[in-house]
Amino acid sequence: MNSHSTVLVIGATGRVGRHVVAGLRAAGVTVRALVRTPEVAGLPPDVELAQGDVYDPDAVRRAADGADAAFLLWPSFSADGAEPVVAALPKRVVYLSAVTTSGVWGHVEELLAKNGRDWTYLRPTGFAVNAQAWAEDFRTGDTVRLPFPEAGRSLIHERDIAAVAVLTLLDDRHVGETYVLTGPEVLTQAEQVQTIARAVGKPMRIEEQSPAEARQSMLDMGADPALADSSVTYWSSLADDPEPVTTTVPRLTGRPARTFAEWAEEHADEFRVLSTAEIADRYVAALSAGRVDDALALAAPDAVRVAPLETDGEEVELQGTEAVLENARRLSVDVEYLAVDLLGPFVLDDHFAVRFTFDQRNTRSGRRYRTTKLSLCTVADGRIVREEVFYYTPPNGN
Ligand SMILES: NC(=O)c1ccc[n+]([C@@H]2O[C@H](COP(=O)([O-])OP(=O)(O)OC[C@H]3O[C@@H](n4cnc5c(N)ncnc54)[C@H](OP(=O)(O)O)[C@@H]3O)[C@@H](O)[C@H]2O)c1
Repeated sequence: MNSHSTVLVIGATGRVGRHVVAGLRAAGVTVRALVRTPEVAGLPPDVELAQGDVYDPDAVRRAADGADAAFLLWPSFSADGAEPVVAALPKRVVYLSAVTTSGVWGHVEELLAKNGRDWTYLRPTGFAVNAQAWAEDFRTGDTVRLPFPEAGRSLIHERDIAAVAVLTLLDDRHVGETYVLTGPEVLTQAEQVQTIARAVGKPMRIEEQSPAEARQSMLDMGADPALADSSVTYWSSLADDPEPVTTTVPRLTGRPARTFAEWAEEHADEFRVLSTAEIADRYVAALSAGRVDDALALAAPDAVRVAPLETDGEEVELQGTEAVLENARRLSVDVEYLAVDLLGPFVLDDHFAVRFTFDQRNTRSGRRYRTTKLSLCTVADGRIVREEVFYYTPPNGN
């Protein structure tokens, strides 16, 4: 690999993938990202976007064309359909596996080897960023509900996984290596909660969930019963037999692995109720950088958006971030966004307003035009709960 190389990143918009993209760009490598919805990917403009789904081998083959290596994550709990995808990847692949290789992770590893890829397997322990699941409990009360509070985990910072991914992608001496990646210490889940509580400045209690509830959460996330059972068995074992601590991150990166306390300091804002002004500033910063998902994360899951959908001005109320994203995709068909200019935020009590001017081009007709709109957002309990959109010019430029 050299600075003229192109690396395909699968999962580039994810919690690890964004840092992989940043690291590769910093190394001067051309980054191509396989993304399902380019218009909301929020990746830097020099990243080549290949639209497609990772479960579609043809899309992966197109995205891999001319790439020298790939960073792979497999987003499903099942390896069904993975073989033709693996075969469509460039020969050199760094795969984000897991320390517990039973199930999908081991299956994908086997497929990479069987299909003659030049693989490196990254096997992280639990991600520190999984603790985001407790953010709502922190924001809305004083109790975190979790199973196995005494389970000891050597949680790894997402930036450390990405750092190792980048250096292994850039150096073929890592071909055929398997790296177990961990944080620098073991903390029980109860200690993790207390670490975040210190960073946030809010004492929290713990209420223990039953193993049955933990199993149901896995099933709700799409795991099959066998994986849910093995996960619960694994977590329950961690009280007496905690996850290992390896020195792989410092050995490969040349600096200590980041601690969970560092992670908690960096992410503390996600665990506290932000003021309207703080929400407004973060909203503008995220959208100015094109990070639509970060902006959406500031909204309550059932937030309402009121906007005229069509040029006849008919107002339609959308509820929930999925509906908002779906509408964004619909409005973005045949549209290329060239630039966006934001004015604001203008904050008043529990409201803030932002004016957006989009410089855009219709990809069919080639016509370039501007759309200006004002978003008026209402904030409650540190979340955007309502957005009303007023267009100065119609969304399609007519
Ligand atoms: N959490 C843990 O403790 C842990 C431990 C070990 C291993 N892992 C593994 O780490 C991986 C998750 O990494 P992460 O947390 O960085 O990911 P993440 O934040 O959950 O993001 C998932 C990424 O995958 C993309 N993606 C999802 N479905 C896709 C599809 N059908 N086609 C194309 N792209 C798709 C998403 O893109 P969109 O923008 O399109 O959504 C996003 O970029 C998983 O494979 C998991 O098994 C996790």
